[in-house]
Amino acid sequence: MRILVTGGAGFIGSHVVDACLEAGHEVVVVDSLWPHGGGRRANVNPRAELFVLDIRDAALVDVFKRFAPDAVSHHAAQHSVALSTRDPGYDADVNVRGLLNVLQLSRDHAVRKFVFASSAATYGSPRYLPIDEAHPQTPESPYGITKLAGEHYARYFAAGGGPQYTALRYGNVYGPRQDPSGEAGVIAIFANRILEGQAVRIDWDGEQQKDYVFVGDVARANLLALERGDGEAVNIGTGVGTSVNTLFRMLCDVVGRRVDVVPASKRPGDVYRCVFDIARAREVLGWSPQTALAEGLAATVNFFRTAAGR
Ligand SMILES: NC(=O)c1ccc[n+]([C@@H]2O[C@H](COP(=O)([O-])OP(=O)(O)OC[C@H]3O[C@@H](n4cnc5c(N)ncnc54)[C@H](O)[C@@H]3O)[C@@H](O)[C@H]2O)c1
Repeated sequence: MRILVTGGAGFIGSHVVDACLEAGHEVVVVDSLWPHGGGRRANVNPRAELFVLDIRDAALVDVFKRFAPDAVSHHAAQHSVALSTRDPGYDADVNVRGLLNVLQLSRDHAVRKFVFASSAATYGSPRYLPIDEAHPQTPESPYGITKLAGEHYARYFAAGGGPQYTALRYGNVYGPRQDPSGEAGVIAIFANRILEGQAVRIDWDGEQQKDYVFVGDVARANLLALERGDGEAVNIGTGVGTSVNTLFRMLCDVVGRRVDVVPASKRPGDVYRCVFDIARAREVLGWSPQTALAEGLAATVNFFRTAAGR
């Protein structure tokens, strides 16, 4: 299959590129290397051609004409919740107008499948746990709103002769290549600080739990979604909640060093427990996570250790 991965220089997108190439597909990447995102030229597999291009750019049509993709994996996005609250216009411009450019070109060039990187941010605060796909979607940030709009646009285009779609609602994705300066990557941040021997900040009582899913498992879900799950939106998580305190302890063990903790108060909007029901992903994609947390944390620490030459 010929696959166009938007955002393929970023954290998750670059792993999707690797998984697609590994499975024998042909891949091209469109990524603007946006300075505030996780996109790096070095993340892009040398077997994939990289077009440094904004998804909002009219010149994107040339990539579709030249490469004629069978499938599009749409990972390019403004991915910061904080930025979306400061500048909802920019968030909508990339995450809606950019997405529409990609979707319209996909329809016009007979793309068969559109895999959309959606988010658990589309749910808002949990009303019950674990969160399944029937949970109300009441996003509480402009980012969550534009991701939800993306799901609806994908469905709308599929109904109107565009590509079939699968929306993957990611939980907290972690692993090698995550941007440690990112706001949501607690594992990347902690791993780097512990490796540097610096104190970490833990908000609230540290017992707040989230659902952390390894990026290699996320890439595999993307691969399966190329052929399955048409018309579906599915959670991609583990079904297991892990507290910040547990992550900290496990990362200290992996690195082999303890650092100080600086306690801080609860941040506005923090949720005490968030965990996903992943039964639907098993049913429609045949997917379940395969990487144990300890294994994923070790791979992540190894990556940052090597990257910094430590
Ligand atoms: N990391 C997570 O836990 C998580 C959770 C839910 C959803 N997602 C979604 O997954 C996708 C990938 O996220 P990530 O964490 O890998 O972030 P990332 O910043 O590493 O990757 C996003 C990529 O998009 C590129 N990009 C940004 N604006 C662009 C534009 N206008 N034109 C072309 N390229 C552009 C960036 O350069 C970057 O390479 C995003 O759509 C994000 O919203 C991520």
